[in-house]
This record gives sequence, C-alpha cells and structure tokens, in this order.
Amino acid sequence: MKIGKVGLGVMMVVLMMMLNLSTCSAWFGNKRKSGRNSILPGEAMSSRPSLMNHAAGSSIVFPIYGNVYPVGFYNVTLNIGQPPRPYFLDVDTGSELTWLQCDAPCSQCSETPHPLYKPSNDFIPCKDPLCASLQPTDDYTCEDPNQCDYEIKYADQYSTLGVLLNDVYLLNFTNGVQLKVRMALGCGYDQIFSPSTYHPLDGILGLGRGKASLISQLNSQGLVRNVMGHCLSSRGGGYIFFGNVYDSSRMSWTPISSIDSGKHYSAGPAELVFGGRKTGVGSLNIIFDTGSSYTYFNSQAYQAMISLVS
Ligand SMILES: *[C@@H]1O[C@H](CO)[C@@H](O)[C@H](O)[C@H]1NC(C)=O
Ligand SMILES: *[C@@H]1O[C@H](CO)[C@@H](O)[C@H](O)[C@H]1NC(C)=O
Repeated sequence: MKIGKVGLGVMMVVLMMMLNLSTCSAWFGNKRKSGRNSILPGEAMSSRPSLMNHAAGSSIVFPIYGNVYPVGFYNVTLNIGQPPRPYFLDVDTGSELTWLQCDAPCSQCSETPHPLYKPSNDFIPCKDPLCASLQPTDDYTCEDPNQCDYEIKYADQYSTLGVLLNDVYLLNFTNGVQLKVRMALGCGYDQIFSPSTYHPLDGILGLGRGKASLISQLNSQGLVRNVMGHCLSSRGGGYIFFGNVYDSSRMSWTPISSIDSGKHYSAGPAELVFGGRKTGVGSLNIIFDTGSSYTYFNSQAYQAMISLVS
C-alpha cells in the first residue's frame, strides 16, 4: 500500500527494483533508543544471558512470498496472539503500523486467508508515544484516554480504522532462539477498499520509519539493531530481515536520505535518466515502497518519459 502522505505534488514510490537477479537492499535507521524490554516473563525459550546478545549479534528473517505480476504484492507470515496464530501480511515499507483485520467485531473487513484476529485487551493509552506517532497532528484529541484510535489512509484510497493494542509476536531469531515479544499491533475493524486495492490478506506489515513500526519496536526493546533489509527476486519471493545484516554478500547499499523528515525511506533527490541520457528532470523525491506494485512518477517526470518513448 502506498501511504497517503503523498503531498507536495510528488508522486514517489519505487518498488524494489525489478532487475534480472535478486536485488537486495538494507538500511540503517536511527540509533537504538533505550527502552523497556517486554519479553514476557517466563516466555523466553532461552536464558537471560543469550537474550542480551540479540542486539549485538542476531537477526530475524522472514521469507517473502509474492511477485509484482501476476500476484501484485508481497506477503510474509507472522505468528501473533496467545496462542500464536499465523497471519499473512502485506509487506509495506511505505507505512508505519502493523495491523490485522480484526474481529472487534469488524464492521468492514475483506476476505481473509485466516480467521479474523481476535483483539487482546491490552490496550495502548491514547497519549502513548506509539499512539502519537500514528496521529495526523501532535495536538490530537483523545475521546477515551485509555484507548488509542487511529485512522490510516493509504495513497491508493485504501483506509483503515482501528485501535492500537499490545499482543504477543512469536519470533525466531537466527541464533536459534525463539521469543514471544509483546509489541504494538493495530486491530483494524473498519476498512475501505476499492476493487483495485483488494488483496485477500490478513493485514499489513508496516515497516516505515515511525516509532510504531516493527523495526523501531524491536530495536527499542533491545532485540535487534536498527537495521532492516530485503531481498526480492524478479522470479518472485525473497526475504526480509531485521537486525544484523543477513547474507551481506548479496547486499547493495544505498544511503538513506535525511531530507525526508517524514516516515518514508528515500534515497534523496533523484534525476530521471533515460537510455543513459539525462532528461533534465531532476529533484524527484523518490521513496522506497514495497507496498506499491509499480513505480510512479509525478506528472512532469511522466510527461518527460512519455515524450521520450513516443
Ligand atoms: C501469502 O504467502 C503464503 C505463503 O507463505 C501463500 O501460501 C499465500 O498464497 C500468500 N497469500 C496470498 C493472498 O497470495
Ligand atoms: C520458528 O522455528 C520453529 C522451529 O525451529 C518452526 O517450527 C516455526 O515454524 C518457526 N516459526 C516462525 C514464525 O518462523
């Protein structure tokens, strides 16, 4: 999904590169913030000392299923809840929150591959920083201080209303440790979609830059370094990792710009080059968005493209 804040007339969105070979990218986020560790007591399947090694030495890797065509999206399986149940999530570096279609009850949900998520009662309060991160303005109002309501609008007109809560994510680390980690999750109980945005998935895996994104939460709990990367094959499939760089021999590195102070990953102003030649179209703000199937241009770049191919 493309996230809604497409403002400034800049249409962005680069899907990770459709080259012949697998294309891998990784990026570093901000420095790790210290925070509360919410591994559930007694749930860790390892002793404390090896837990302490996570931030230094381990990563979490999820296989990715899907392709640009004909499937049109990428999904990963996450195990969430108590007991953990599997859900298929749309991988989206263009938005922040991870959420599931949710039986709260659901006033509008699409068809899902698995039974709807049943929300925990572990609500996140309205003034929590994770909630604040999902609101359109800093001075948002709280109808109920004990509950965080949010609305997310994606650029393709898809939107979701939900409540933020904590639940348990079952995570396998590459060092062999399996942990149940309590993290924020959206319970989406009212979705609006058009036929073109229709994906029969359980939810969205938000990997954007904000505090609420999965990588930020994992990092603030000290579980992994604030590094995330993905590897997508033109033949479909691939993997995504969090924490230590996984399979570094296959990575290419792109510095992530700090110009976009928002919640997107951007490689900085780009220039449109066609057939190896400069087109004069520059200063394009391009973002990486795995949730979008195609690469989109603003009208200036689009017109330039069209006149060059015709
Ligand atoms: C999501 O991925 C799983 C494999 O993990 C696959 O079986 C399923 O068909 C995918 N979902 C959709 C809707 O494509
Ligand atoms: C984690 O690992 C276990 C055993 O190694 C495996 O059965 C399970 O499917 C894995 N779970 C996830 C979420 O990848």
